Amino acid sequence: MKIAIGADHAGFDMKEQLLKMLKDDAVEVVDCGTFDNQSCNYPTYAHAVAKVVLENKLNKGILICGTGNGMNMTANKHTGIRAALCWTEEIARLSRQHNDANILSIPARFVDVHLAADMMFTFLKVEFEGGRHATRLGLIEM
Ligand code: RB5
Repeated sequence: MKIAIGADHAGFDMKEQLLKMLKDDAVEVVDCGTFDNQSCNYPTYAHAVAKVVLENKLNKGILICGTGNGMNMTANKHTGIRAALCWTEEIARLSRQHNDANILSIPARFVDVHLAADMMFTFLKVEFEGGRHATRLGLIEM
């Protein structure tokens, strides 16, 4: 599995911790930045991850900022991206089963790294259920 990951300054520390866990789990990761704690603009990294996921047909992406909202809003501007803002493991699981989400947005200032890791690994392994949910997904794009 190959995925992309990105964070702003508020999500940088969590990104580094999640990256290590992904590598330990033999997941191949494209790190789209940011690469330090300096204040930066979250759309830069959300656009970068969305583009890498779409252009390289990667399995999934992970975005991390303070609330998760800015990253999530930005990624969802890309046709073909279904980014899900999650704060429990169950919401992350349902975002895969019901919404076929291809990007997980994590609010680093509101969840600890253990919950973030649980959400991430659940998000990466759970499959889309299809059926009635596929019909609904078809109605999303405008
Ligand atoms: C940065 O302070 C913060 O605004 C950002 O990480 C994010 O929460 C935006 O949605």
